[in-house]
Amino acid sequence: MAGVSVTEEFDYEDNPDRFRVNQEVVNRYGLVGDVHDEVAARVAKEALWPLLDMGCGEGRLGQAVDEAGPMVATDLARTLLLQARPPRVCSDMTRLPVPEGSLGSAAALWCLYHVGSPIEAIREAHRVLRPGGLFATCAPSIDNDPELAHCFPPPKPSPFDSEFGGELVKEVFGNVEADHWDTPAVTLPDAEAVALFLKGRGKSADEASELTKQVEMPVTLTKRGALFWAYKR
Ligand SMILES: C[S@@+](CC[C@H](N)C(=O)[O-])C[C@H]1O[C@@H](n2cnc3c(N)ncnc32)[C@H](O)[C@@H]1O
Repeated sequence: MAGVSVTEEFDYEDNPDRFRVNQEVVNRYGLVGDVHDEVAARVAKEALWPLLDMGCGEGRLGQAVDEAGPMVATDLARTLLLQARPPRVCSDMTRLPVPEGSLGSAAALWCLYHVGSPIEAIREAHRVLRPGGLFATCAPSIDNDPELAHCFPPPKPSPFDSEFGGELVKEVFGNVEADHWDTPAVTLPDAEAVALFLKGRGKSADEASELTKQVEMPVTLTKRGALFWAYKR
């Protein structure tokens, strides 16, 4: 996608099924909830409306917010965005069509590692928030899912891993609060589940079926990552 800020791993527009497979793995085999409910609850408790969901995917944050307050969903991948609840806008999160200081909160959940220059997206979030507004973002650790690390090449740092993402948020907002996790979070009971997980991580059906033979099942995956919060001063 020329002219927009994405990494080479961005395939959500051409391959929305990979996103959906990852969701299905978490929905079917997850042992703990995701961050969306927690973010929606904090925004509602602090009445920080309207809320902007940057990189909303199919709108899971919107489902968590439900009717609690007004929000807008944005994403670059039109196919996913069309599943999110309106109002919704197709845009690059580093160039939001949103007036300065107009929002109570902004969330960029599970997406800054796809952005070539995540600090530009964080600066955009800061620009569109009013003073006192809340920004929330999260990312996995580079050492996520260690139990299946042998199925992949050694991990390379992404533009926004949980190890240093908080520093980028602090650089823009001048403050950051970090909730880190390191916990067993998904149990894959059998070969079908492991193959589904591997397909969600970009393996072909043949590769997934071959790699599944190297995995002792059931396998419980340790999820590592962090949710970051920051207020605009
Ligand atoms: C892993 S999905 C997360 C979706 C959603 N936030 C959630 O938590 O379910 C990452 C999303 O970020 C979007 N995305 C990636 N780069 C983007 C950019 N530069 N501008 C807007 N959206 C982007 C993708 O299209 C995709 O929907």
